[in-house]
Amino acid sequence: MTPGRFITLEGGEGAGKTTQGALLAAALCARGRPVLRTREPGGAPRAEALRGFILAHGGWDAQAEMALHVAARREHWAALIAPALAAGITVVSDRFHDSTWAYQVAGQGAPAAAFDALHEALLPDARPHLTVLLDIPPEAGLRRARDPNRYEALGAAFHRRVHEGFLARAAAEPSRFLCLDARQPREAVAAAILERALAA
Ligand code: TMP
Repeated sequence: MTPGRFITLEGGEGAGKTTQGALLAAALCARGRPVLRTREPGGAPRAEALRGFILAHGGWDAQAEMALHVAARREHWAALIAPALAAGITVVSDRFHDSTWAYQVAGQGAPAAAFDALHEALLPDARPHLTVLLDIPPEAGLRRARDPNRYEALGAAFHRRVHEGFLARAAAEPSRFLCLDARQPREAVAAAILERALAA
């Protein structure tokens, strides 16, 4: 059995990840590829419980907050993503580890070495084949965001650091990332994503 492809969608608030993830999944399904749509934080039942907890409570030490996201990710990976990939299913996830780097490391100041150590220890094999960065200036994204959560209230400087964090991640691994201007028409973004996903 050929393992499935693992595709992640990343970006700040209001970038259109959910819309584009749904369009991508539908287009792949229409071509006969089995697809699992999922999201982070969450995705699997216990990880969704952690999502509710993380989004309901703020004020964490940055490393504690990072560890909560990584715990949810480990559960998501073990319970849902890894078995799906092993079964030949393409997994499309709204957010994955790059969000932790952008929000907790770049945004909240958690040490990059702690991020690396946690992922190396708990998720050594969890590497997306393709990551789509839907890039949008944070001010424009926050205006478009449809489902407000506590991170949106963290202020313009925080969201600028998150934005820079995503761009730095993409620059460090250009072969994994497809960077797109999220302000382009929805159909143009979807077509560019599908082309790369079919080749991933
Ligand atoms: P969502 O709004 O994209 O569903 O994600 C919920 C929030 O969680 C979003 O504001 C980004 C934040 N987040 C982190 O801070 N760290 C992470 O590792 C992940 C996956 C999400």
